[in-house]
Amino acid sequence: MIRLTRPVFTDEDTAALADVLRSGMLIQGARVAAFEEAVRGFLHARGAPSATTLHALAVSSGTAALELALATTPGGVGAGDEVLVPAVTWPSPGHAVLLRGACAVLVDVDARTFNLDPARAGEAITPRTRAIIAVDQFGVPADVPALRALASDLDLVEDAACAIGSSLRGAPCGDLGDVATLSFHPRKIVTTAEGGMVLTRDAARAARVTALRNHGQRTPGDFVGAGPNARLSELHAALGVLQMQRLDATLAHRRDLAEQIRGAVDLAWQRAPEGAVVNHQTLGFVLPEPRSGPHAGDRRAARDALVLALRQDGVEASILSYALHRLPQFAALAVNALRRFPVADAVVDGGVAVPLHGAMTADDAGVVVDRLRAHAAWAFGGAAVRA
Ligand SMILES: Cc1ncc(COP(=O)(O)O)c(C=O)c1O
Repeated sequence: MIRLTRPVFTDEDTAALADVLRSGMLIQGARVAAFEEAVRGFLHARGAPSATTLHALAVSSGTAALELALATTPGGVGAGDEVLVPAVTWPSPGHAVLLRGACAVLVDVDARTFNLDPARAGEAITPRTRAIIAVDQFGVPADVPALRALASDLDLVEDAACAIGSSLRGAPCGDLGDVATLSFHPRKIVTTAEGGMVLTRDAARAARVTALRNHGQRTPGDFVGAGPNARLSELHAALGVLQMQRLDATLAHRRDLAEQIRGAVDLAWQRAPEGAVVNHQTLGFVLPEPRSGPHAGDRRAARDALVLALRQDGVEASILSYALHRLPQFAALAVNALRRFPVADAVVDGGVAVPLHGAMTADDAGVVVDRLRAHAAWAFGGAAVRA
């Protein structure tokens, strides 16, 4: 089976883990600092020169990073406040809003990029809106400049969980908004098993995140407020340091595989906005609504049949993402229950992800192409095959 995703580790990684164990220093030590510096340096090298410093703060997951980002929104986010969140995404950004007692206002996405649609976001802003969480869906940069143009006083949180290595018009993902978050979950391009990072150019905010992630301590014993334990361990950070050293090669390998597959099969692949460079975190497309055959008019049934057929053929395809407006914790909010999300529905019901990971070879990518072509006639109306 060609797996949907698979992290790549080497003997060097195993040795680094053993070194940490031998050192006896397991949390918040030199490896965490080195990992933060590696990520900061990577983004800094890809951005425009700036007078302000980018701060990178390692935490225990991408979800913890989002919670700390919203916990430090200038002016605060709490009961009675609203935060805009894309209707298609992993639920963490929406959950971070609910956990602050605020209202997650869902917004439909763009049909090509699957990212927050700035026009729909503009319609959703009210006097209660405090922040926008813009997800760089599957590594494709969200149009953060267009969202910024809607309202300069809102906190722009870039959820770049999937987007390390991507950029928009010369600015790296992770440095597009007021604050950004990364994830190092095993499906991500840089993985530490579990892990995340908060990035911001706001020094005061960085100091608050630094205290909050460590039980609210500014320095040992100096508790300035209630905070979770959201620290990253030295074991996780040691993996991160080595993964960052391999990142350029990883990105080039993924680009080659993605181009090979996308170039051979003409589907409604996720598209990047003008001026974007993408990291090919996930390779996904949306099936058209079937007009004839056994699944006529039922995009979700056609999608499920295609995913099953590909798996039976040894290619681990999967559904693409989640519709937050169908989850009870978001649907229960009146502001979401009254809205319609036609693009999100199409992207979620017709969305298919196909394998793409660092352990794949060009031969594996060829198998993915062959299997997609084999099912083209019934699944895509036969129009998908390129010569
Ligand atoms: C867009 C997005 N945000 C947040 C997260 C949460 O990251 P983590 O699994 O590290 O908590 C994910 C994880 O898959 C994600 O895809």
